Amino acid sequence: MPIIVMNKNSLVSISDISRDEMLDLLRRARYFEENPDSKILDGKIVATLFFEPSTRTRLSFETAVNRLGGRVIGFSDAATTSSSKGETLKDTIKMVSNYVDLIVMRHYLEGAARYATEVTSVPVINAGDGANQHPSQTMLDLYSILKTQGTLENLTITMVGDLKYGRTVHSLLMAMQYFNPTFNFVACPELRMPQEYKDFCDEHGIKYNETTEFSPEVINSSDIIYMTRVQRERFSDIMEYERVKDRYTLHNDMLADSKPTLRILHPLPRVNEIDRDVDDNPKAYYFEQARNGLFARQAIITRALGIDPEK
Ligand code: CP
Repeated sequence: MPIIVMNKNSLVSISDISRDEMLDLLRRARYFEENPDSKILDGKIVATLFFEPSTRTRLSFETAVNRLGGRVIGFSDAATTSSSKGETLKDTIKMVSNYVDLIVMRHYLEGAARYATEVTSVPVINAGDGANQHPSQTMLDLYSILKTQGTLENLTITMVGDLKYGRTVHSLLMAMQYFNPTFNFVACPELRMPQEYKDFCDEHGIKYNETTEFSPEVINSSDIIYMTRVQRERFSDIMEYERVKDRYTLHNDMLADSKPTLRILHPLPRVNEIDRDVDDNPKAYYFEQARNGLFARQAIITRALGIDPEK
């Protein structure tokens, strides 16, 4: 059997890339926003393998490929594939690798994307693995923060809601290590930020405050409020989900004394954590944030395929 070497252009965890690589991806994202129609993926085929539901991530990855002239194969429901007959993830990845230049995969198991990189030499992009990591979301979050704040440096970022299972906050926290952030972690005790991420903050000199109160002091000191959905699909006890699901809701009147430059982010989908009365507030940025996902993912795809869009 040939030895499989992980493709160095894979993106499994945000910690796979350096500060400079992140900044390069952000430059690329800006390029794609300004140059939407270059057909630089002509002849390339990308697989989108979604073992978990998705709207934004899958559709923006597929749009990113289509707009750049590539083609997409894949599935959005694993029940329609041979994994429902018992085919292993390893075999599925090896089969798909025969057909494509790049694999984008979402899976419910933490570590599934890393495992995929160990059984194929085709680059793999992690589109979310359980409660672990969602690095392409992080790149669009960074791009959104940069666009709205004009910098990534020295910002106060308040993360609210499900900080235990929310993979987007875990990835974003790690990415911000290079930019001297201050975090507020607002969560009920059942969904607080896991100790490993607080240890990460301590090890990297990142300042953070932990609280159960989504107070005016917290809101008014924030540059970014990052709301998150309570991840029902991660709970083994549905009664526990019912107890905590509506603990934090952002309403428009709570923003009255917030900074003029504050922006509200949310990876979406939302349930009840942002009231609809916030949507018309100019500080609400979550729909534009999702749009930025197209450009961030074009940047990630071209990096994975070793294509420089500006050459
Ligand atoms: N933000 C995000 O991952 O959304 P989807 O689950 O719709 O892909």
